[in-house]
This record gives sequence, C-alpha cells and structure tokens, in this order.
Amino acid sequence: MAAEPTKDDRFSFGLWTVGWHANDQFGEPTRAPVDPVESVHRLGELGAWGVTFHDDDVIPFGTSDAEREKIITRFRAALAETGVVVPMMTTNLFSQPVFKDGGFTSNDRSVRRYALRKVARNIDLAAELGAETYVFWGGREGAEYDGAKNIASALDRYREGIDALAQYVTEKGYGLRFAIEPKPNEPRGDILLPTVGHALAFIEQLDHADMVGVNPEVGHEQMAGLNYTAGIAQALWAGKLFHIDLNGQRSIKYDQDLVFGHGDLTSAFFTVDLLENGAVGGGPSYTGPRHFDYKPSRTEDIAGVWDSAAANMRMYLLLKERAAAYRADPEVQQAMEHAGVGALADSTLSSGESFNDLLADRSAFEDFDPAAAGERGYGFVRLNQLGLEHLLGAR
Ligand code: GCO
Ligand code: MN
Ligand code: MN
Repeated sequence: MAAEPTKDDRFSFGLWTVGWHANDQFGEPTRAPVDPVESVHRLGELGAWGVTFHDDDVIPFGTSDAEREKIITRFRAALAETGVVVPMMTTNLFSQPVFKDGGFTSNDRSVRRYALRKVARNIDLAAELGAETYVFWGGREGAEYDGAKNIASALDRYREGIDALAQYVTEKGYGLRFAIEPKPNEPRGDILLPTVGHALAFIEQLDHADMVGVNPEVGHEQMAGLNYTAGIAQALWAGKLFHIDLNGQRSIKYDQDLVFGHGDLTSAFFTVDLLENGAVGGGPSYTGPRHFDYKPSRTEDIAGVWDSAAANMRMYLLLKERAAAYRADPEVQQAMEHAGVGALADSTLSSGESFNDLLADRSAFEDFDPAAAGERGYGFVRLNQLGLEHLLGAR
C-alpha cells in the first residue's frame, strides 16, 4: 500500500479544479461554489503541498481595488495557517466576453493591450506570493475559421506579448519563469500552439527564450492523439519541462479532465516512471511540482470532490510504488539490457573518433553483416509485459 501523501511529495492542485461548479455546455452547475480559503484548508489536510490559481479564481472579475486587497489578505492568512504554498499562478484570459477572440492574439488591438495589463497585474501578485512559475494557457488564442485569423500575425502578437511580459518580470527582478501550456482545441475550434512540439518551436523564436518553458497536460496531448510520456521526455531533453498538468483522458475526444490514471493507465505508469526514476540510460529529470489539473465529475457531490482530489495523489503514489518495483526487478533489468534500452545512451561515434574514422572503419560497413543484425530480437514485448505485470501488482 502506498504511503499517504505528504508535503514532501510536492502535490499541488489548481483551485479551479476542486472549485469547479460542475456546469457544462449542456447543464447547470450541480454543486455550490467552494470558497478558495476552504479549498486551501481541505487540500492541505489531504496532504497537498501547494495550490495554484487564475486571478479570477480567487478575486472575482470586476472586483474593486479595495475589495481585492481584502480578499488577498484573507487568502494569505489561509496560506499562513496551513503552510500551503503557491508554486504557480496563471491568468484567466478566456471566461469573459471581452476575450472571446483571445487575449494576446485577439484581432482587436484594445483587447490585446487590456490582456497584457491583466496579466501584468497578476504577475505582481504571483511574485508577492512567492510563485516560481507563471503559466500561459491560451485557450481562446485561436479560431474556428481559417479565413478569420492570420496565423503569422497571431504568432507575432503572441511572441510580442510573452516577450513584453518576460521583459517586465526581468526588470522587476521577479524570480518567475514562464510555462506555456499547449492544447489542440476547446474552447476554440483550433488553438495556437496546439502541442508540446509547437510550443517548443515557438519558444525558440522568443527574445527571452531562456525563461520560457512548457506546462504539458496529459489530456491535451492525448486529445491530439499524441504520447504524453514521449512529449514530456522531449521537453525534458530540451530543458523546458518547467511544470506539468496531470489528469486523465480516454482517447481523442473533448477534454475529459479525469483523475490522474483514470484515463490511459499504462501511459500514466510510464509517465510516473519517467518523472520519478528518470530515463533508463540517463537524461535530465523533473524536479518541479506534481500538479493536478482535473475536474471532479459533474455527478459528484462535495464529498466526491475531496475524494477525487485524494484519488489523484493516491494514484500517483501507487504508480510511483509500482514503478520503483519495476525498476528494481532483476528480470526487468535483464530485459532492458537485452532490449538495449540503456545502450542507446552510448554515443554512435566513440569519444575522439571523427566522422572520417567512421568512414575508414571497415567493421562499420564493408565487413558489417546487416542480415545478421537484422535477425536480432529486441524483446520489447516481453519488457512491456513485465511492466504491465508490475502495474497490475502481479509481480
Ligand atoms: C483547460 C486548461 C486549463 C489550464 C489553466 C491554467 O483545458 O481548461 O488545462 O485548466 O491549465 O487555465 O493555465
Ligand atoms: Mn485541460
Ligand atoms: Mn491544464
């Protein structure tokens, strides 16, 4: 049985997750609003280490400055009482009608200017609360109709926005890094920077590329039919995995936001294995928060909300335990060896060997027997079976 979550596990939750009123496109809310202060207490009691939020999750849109200060004071008191920290913050640039065509990339320039101001104000609060990461999820940055949006201009404006805010953070001396969260669609028909790969390529074009990484979400990559574990592995390789959004998704469909592991469980197992144990053969590892961005299903009452929050942490810890057993199993190690998993870390040219040396190496080509090498069995299926047996608790 996996241990109970503790603050050392660095589990964090978006306040919009447990705070969701459970309204959807077809139905009214099924739950009453949850006071963010209550969420801080309940999540802290359940063993969470941190909470994250959009400006509007804690300070309702349109709140006066005086009222805003009162809300922040009360929220800070809850953090102080519980020891819960705020490792990440973000901006709501999607709920209000003003953002219906996006924030940074709205066709309306006045909206773009307003969006930058809304973010800057919340960045000040993020710095005050000691957040390390500021997330940009551009849910409304996109379009439904190809003729309605100049993608090149939209990307120029996106870059302008991120660079201006990065410059602001640098000038203020805030210790914040930015993390872009990709998503292929929903709420827009098509969203800009739809996958981890698109976001990584975009980041390379920024003036402040060094301070910008990604915040990949399990369900978002899977909505695009992509492999989440492989996506975060590439982000790690690029030195850009600044944050993660863990949840569950079952195949290519709307954003389900299930509990972590309640979607593609095999993928969740290998995700936790990568995050906790690093790649076999070596590679950069992830040290950031284990952040959950899920939604307690609309069928749940408030008790179900807290049960589902606890379920995310429990799933993670169970998978962590299973992944540790997988790595420690001598038969798995032997199967990995046979499969050459670790050997892929050996450079193809020896150290000090030049490409001309390779050209001169008869054993690499003239005397090489490709037919014999083609006969090798890699045993990947056996290795995977061993992994699944560990996942099932059969070993
Ligand atoms: C979604 C997104 C959001 C973001 C959040 C933080 O699909 O709704 O995942 O929940 O993570 O806006 O930026
Ligand atoms: Mn999502
Ligand atoms: Mn998310």
